[in-house]
Amino acid sequence: MAKVAWILGGGSGIGAETAKALSGRGWTVAVSGRREQPLAALAVSHGARPYPLDVTDLEAVRATVARIVEDLGRIDLMIFSVATKQTTKTGQYGYESYASVIDTNLLGALRVIDPVVTQMRRQGGGEIALVASVAGYFGLPRSAAYSSGKAAMIALAETMRTELERDNIAVRLISPGFVKTDFTAPNDFPMPFLMEAEEAGRRIADGLLNSKRFEIAFPRRMVYPLKLIAMLPYPLFFAIMKRLLPRGKS
Ligand SMILES: NC(=O)c1ccc[n+]([C@@H]2O[C@H](COP(=O)([O-])OP(=O)(O)OC[C@H]3O[C@@H](n4cnc5c(N)ncnc54)[C@H](OP(=O)(O)O)[C@@H]3O)[C@@H](O)[C@H]2O)c1
Repeated sequence: MAKVAWILGGGSGIGAETAKALSGRGWTVAVSGRREQPLAALAVSHGARPYPLDVTDLEAVRATVARIVEDLGRIDLMIFSVATKQTTKTGQYGYESYASVIDTNLLGALRVIDPVVTQMRRQGGGEIALVASVAGYFGLPRSAAYSSGKAAMIALAETMRTELERDNIAVRLISPGFVKTDFTAPNDFPMPFLMEAEEAGRRIADGLLNSKRFEIAFPRRMVYPLKLIAMLPYPLFFAIMKRLLPRGKS
């Protein structure tokens, strides 16, 4: 019987391309997001099963997990590829913009993780992949809400990987660099090594299906320098960060 993947944020960008890649490899793929139209389009083009959902709605999340299990029998793999971003201005920490980013990007994942872990324990195991970002490797200037939410997601994935192994639940961290999607389209700064979403989806599917490693990070030429920066002594680290702040611009 085909394995079942549930991809949240599966209607567009990286999530949609991962859904296509998995469905091309014989998986049954359930997709969620708030907008029904892109989910319906994937249903037509790739046989995905649409489950419209807003991850900020806890009751709806619980009901959707129950519906997927009722319809498809189990959830072998859950991929959380949801994110929103608000432009947080340099040096400003207004609560509302931070709360909305964290509510979707981090707490949204937690709303999903709890019932999915319960289901995976019940069925004897499974796999959970959280799409974070290289932007979570350290606190990036001009991107405080997004970067700090992703950093927390990395820590969460590390904890879960350790704790859930004994339940036969493998936790994976996905760390993309810049990928061409609706999410990055408004960016007004250079995006080095920008990758097509299709390539990102293929790399994620390959990494999940052909390896057991914790982190699937790409492209390497972006990932390795950033990991090195994260290890620098703070004086050097902050000297580099300061250069990312364009003078007179927020
Ligand atoms: N693109 C990049 O350069 C890049 C780099 C590193 C990491 N990432 C991460 O990759 C993931 C996917 O991003 P993307 O680039 O593919 O952008 P995207 O196409 O905008 O994907 C984000 C998805 O999240 C869904 N979403 C947003 N709020 C939601 C909510 N409240 N409930 C349910 N679904 C919600 C959106 O669908 P609806 O609007 O229909 O709800 C959309 O499908 C994100 O976690 C992002 O942080 C992206």
